[in-house]
Amino acid sequence: VTDAAVTGVDDAATLRRGFTLYPRGVMAVAAVVDGVSTGLAVSAFVSVSLDPPLMLICVDKASSTWPTLSRAGSIGVSVIAEDQAWLGRQLASRRVDRFAGADFEERPAGALLLAGSVARFETTVETVHDGGDHLMVLLRVVDMAGDPDTAPLLWHDSTFMSVAPLNAG
Ligand SMILES: Cc1cc2nc3c(=O)[nH]c(=O)nc-3n(C[C@H](O)[C@H](O)[C@H](O)COP(=O)(O)O)c2cc1C
Repeated sequence: VTDAAVTGVDDAATLRRGFTLYPRGVMAVAAVVDGVSTGLAVSAFVSVSLDPPLMLICVDKASSTWPTLSRAGSIGVSVIAEDQAWLGRQLASRRVDRFAGADFEERPAGALLLAGSVARFETTVETVHDGGDHLMVLLRVVDMAGDPDTAPLLWHDSTFMSVAPLNAG
């Protein structure tokens, strides 16, 4: 492929951009571990299986948060709403309190579920698989709540966007 703006797999930054040309939602992956709210923003998400109920997230092996988060009794995965874009950015920041100003509900086993999000999944870690420089974390869904009328945040071309129905109006 030559007549494209972004080409090649040799340069990591270029490939990262290419991967973000697949539009996705943004998840708040979070739990309380040893009394501390812990989490990160994740866009690498796939629904995998209905029976058993499984979903997949991919986490950078360089993540400083995952080794702690993986010890949680349960992990919340919330689909961030359009009006929560600020939180999507904050949950990836290294400099600020990632949970400042955010409204999470803590489940008994530790999962943090984001109030006002599009969908909230309470999960436990099923298995962890090698995925190159990332870990492929298979999560078992133990509970779910969703609000289809809430507008989701979209991550496309490394930019936050909003979703609009085709032929709207
Ligand atoms: C929109 C968005 C999507 C992200 N998706 C992922 C992802 O799928 N996997 C991942 O490991 N990190 C992802 N990140 C980066 C993490 O949120 C976080 O910044 C990174 O893990 C470094 O912080 P840590 O060392 O605390 O883990 C994403 C960040 C943003 C802003």
